[in-house]
Parts: sequence; structure tokens; C-alpha cells
Amino acid sequence: MKVCIIGAGYVGLVTGATLAELGNRVICVDNNEEKIAILNRDEIPIYEPGLKEMVRGARQAGRMSFITSIAEGVKASDIIFIAVSTPPKADGSADLSAVAAVAREVAENLNGYKVVVDKSTVPVKTGEKVAETIKRYSKGNGEFDVVSNPEFLREGSAIYDTFHPDRIIIGTSSRKAADLLIELYKPLNAPVIVTDINSAEIIKHAANSFLATKISFANALAHICEASGANVEEVTRGVGLDSRVGSRFLNAGVGYGGSCFPKDVSAFIAIAEELRYDFGLLKEVERINKTQVDYFFNKIKETLWILEDKIIGVLGLAFKPDTDDMRNAPSVKIISRLLEEGARVKAFDPRSMEKAREILPDIEYCDGPYQVAEGAEALVIVTEWNEFREMDLKRIKELLHQPIILDGRNIYDPAKMEKLGFIYKSVGR
Ligand code: NAD
Ligand code: UGA
Repeated sequence: MKVCIIGAGYVGLVTGATLAELGNRVICVDNNEEKIAILNRDEIPIYEPGLKEMVRGARQAGRMSFITSIAEGVKASDIIFIAVSTPPKADGSADLSAVAAVAREVAENLNGYKVVVDKSTVPVKTGEKVAETIKRYSKGNGEFDVVSNPEFLREGSAIYDTFHPDRIIIGTSSRKAADLLIELYKPLNAPVIVTDINSAEIIKHAANSFLATKISFANALAHICEASGANVEEVTRGVGLDSRVGSRFLNAGVGYGGSCFPKDVSAFIAIAEELRYDFGLLKEVERINKTQVDYFFNKIKETLWILEDKIIGVLGLAFKPDTDDMRNAPSVKIISRLLEEGARVKAFDPRSMEKAREILPDIEYCDGPYQVAEGAEALVIVTEWNEFREMDLKRIKELLHQPIILDGRNIYDPAKMEKLGFIYKSVGR
């Protein structure tokens, strides 16, 4: 099929590369000229495992191209995906200006029947607005249907997730559009739910909010465990093995970050408010998440007392492992607080240091974990990259000024660390 994807970010590029791999012809459009120039040089503006090779292969095989003109992309395609950013506004609600601008430009370029598919995460009733906008600006030229097809991929495992989705949601009132998308996704062999557009939009916000709730629940349990001498990992394992609960997304830590959970939980609270429902449960999920970083920072302060002029080593900057994404990364909050207290920070992340430099220019960036440890008063672990799990801890201990590790991700066994002679503090254990 002929597919146009508007928005060549994490979602647009992964979706585009996957659909190209399945044999479709994909045009990716983005209004960021620099991004398109990078892609046309067979390079890639983001780090996502395996994506560079897939995009390069698809482009060289002539199945994937990159342009800045929505008009050109729409005219040459049957299915048009909207995968642009929907960032939070100051009041927590979603900024839909990019979705609205794209809908208008799509409308002005209709030439025959098109299925316009919203993949961006949007508030319920956005599909209705998109349909109204297209109708208004197309002035009756060309037929179209609108579909909500929310995306559930995770950064770091985006390609695997896209090839093996737990489910595909197709929200539309048009049988013709639903059938076209069922056909497009058929090779993935995944369960498909065809539903109305409003339900599809709510499914996305409900899924992210529920996962965020699980994480905040685990973080709340961490406080109870720490105060009572229990171990949060044992507790969440014991609870999660009940198949009605499930053990995934119950890891306590420094709180959830990234471009989606914080934004989507706030957006869902705002959507509920607009619909005159006070989603108090989610407000508490958000509150627990915000205070989790403070709790971890206080742990650093309690352990080291006065931070002024102390050198603190930080391992991990990206909001999670296997990505270079720094959006809403807990590391930014923790490092900013350390700098405010007068500490000097050395840091290392395997993938995100280039992006981190733009946000955190006043820290020392190191070549690896051992360089971070050298002469530092303590080591703070913020992101659980596998290479930190595999470090030579004896060497780390020799390099540190004091054998102190504050682990925000519970990657080591406390008993083992004690035996090695570390002052080791983690979360809820
Ligand atoms: P992103 O910022 O990486 O990419 C969005 C792209 O859209 C950017 O390249 C930007 O230049 C482009 N863009 C913005 N306005 C445009 C316009 N008017 N015309 C053309 N291009 C435009 O964002 P992302 O992480 O890919 O997220 C996109 C959407 O998908 C968001 O709604 C997000 O909530 C949702 N989502 C993201 C993920 C994820 O893991 N990142 C997963 C599921 C859903
Ligand atoms: C999340 C969802 O998992 C995806 O299904 C969804 O498509 C995506 O948001 C989105 O809508 O954009 P992502 O943000 O890429 O994906 O990463 P996650 O693996 O969900 O992690 C999010 C945050 O939660 C990270 O900061 C991570 O460290 C934290 N987390 C995750 C925990 O603190 N504990 C856990 O048990 C799991």
C-alpha cells in the first residue's frame, strides 16, 4: 500500500520503517528540514536499537523516502498517518496545534479517497475535530475517513514492540477504512480491536495512566517497606505473580519519566476535568511520582550531609536504558538539585550525552563509569543500563573517594554490596 507518515520522530520513523519492511511504499514527512536532511544522508536523528539499519535498508530499497512537503506526501498516498508531537501545555492539557495544522494541510491536498489515521496520543474527541477540520478545509474535494490508531511502542524496544504488538486498536465508524487498516496490519498477526473513535482515543490514555499507576503504587510500597524493614522487590514479586496483577511495571525507583507517562497522565486528568470528573486517583499517581525524585535526592543528602564542593558521580542520564531520549529524564531533576546545593557533578550515559549536554551544560561528561567514579565522593545510579550491572565493583570501590553508592534503580544485591564494603543505599530495601 502507499503510506504517508507525517512526523518523523520516534513513532513516525519506527512505524514507517516497519511498514516499509512489510512491503509497503512509505513517504515520511517532517517540517524539520534538518531532520529530513539527516535522514536523506542515510543517518538517523535519534538512537533506537536496530532502527538505523532498518531505515537505511528501506530507503536504499526504494521503499522509504523523506520529504518536507505534506502536499506531496498526501497526494502520493492512500493512507496518511499523523504521528506529530502532542506536548503538554502549561496547564497539563495536550497541545494539539501540530495535529490541527497537519489536518488542515491534509485537507487542502486531498485528491481521491484517503484514510487519515491519527497515531499521535490525543484527547478523546480529537478524531471528531480532525474530521470536521478536514471536511471544512477540503471544501468537498476528495473523500476521506478518519481513524484513531493509538501507538503502544516503548522506546528502547520500539522495533520489537511494533512487530509484536499486544493488540492493534482501530477506532473508526467506517467499515471501509477499518478493512484497509486490517489489511495493512495483517502480516503482524496481532489481535485487532475495531471500535469507535472516542473509545480508541481513551484506550491510549487509560493504558498509559494505568501503567503509571502501577509504578506509583510500587513507589508508595517502597516507603512502607523501607520504614518497616521489608524489601520492596520481594513484595512486588509476591504481589505481581498473581496473574490478575502481573509483575511488569512494578519496579520502584526514582519515578517514571520520558516523553509520555508524565505528559499523558496530566493530559488525562485535564480531559477528565473537562468532562466534569475529578480523577483524584491519577492526581495522586502524579503526586507520588513528583515526590519520588525528592525522596531520592534527600537520601543522597542524608548520606553525604553538606554537598557543597563535593564531587558526585552520576551513572545514567537517559529517562530509561536503550534510548538517547532525555525528555523528562529524572536525571535532570536530580543533577539540577545537586548543582543547586553546590556539588560538582561528573556523569556518563552510553547514548544520551550529546542530548544531555544541551540541557545540563555545567557538568563534566566522562568516557565511562570508571572515569566517573575516580575521586568521587559517591556514585549515584539513575538509569539501569546493563553495562552498569556488569561493572567491576572492586575497581569502582578503589576509584571512589568514599565507597558510597546510591542506587535509584535497585540494580545490585544489598547483601553483596555490604560484603564488598560499600555504604549502599537503594529504594525500598
Ligand atoms: P517526536 O517529537 O519524536 O516526533 C514528532 C515529529 O513530528 C518531530 O520530528 C517534529 O518535527 C514533527 N512535527 C511536528 N509538527 C509537525 C508538523 N506540523 N508537520 C510535520 N511534522 C511535524 O515525538 P514522538 O515521540 O514520535 O511522539 C509522537 C506522538 O506519538 C506523540 O503524540 C506521543 O505522545 C505519541 N507516542 C509516543 C511514543 C514514544 O515512545 N515516543 C509511544 C507511543 C505514542
Ligand atoms: C511508555 C509505554 O510503556 C508505552 O506502551 C507507550 O507507547 C509509551 O509510553 C508512549 O505512549 O509514549 P516509554 O515511555 O518509552 O513507554 O518507556 P517505559 O518503559 O514505559 O518507561 C517509562 C518510565 O517509567 C521510565 O522512566 C522508566 O524508568 C519508568 N518505569 C518503568 C519505572 O520506574 N518502573 C517500572 O516498573 C517501569
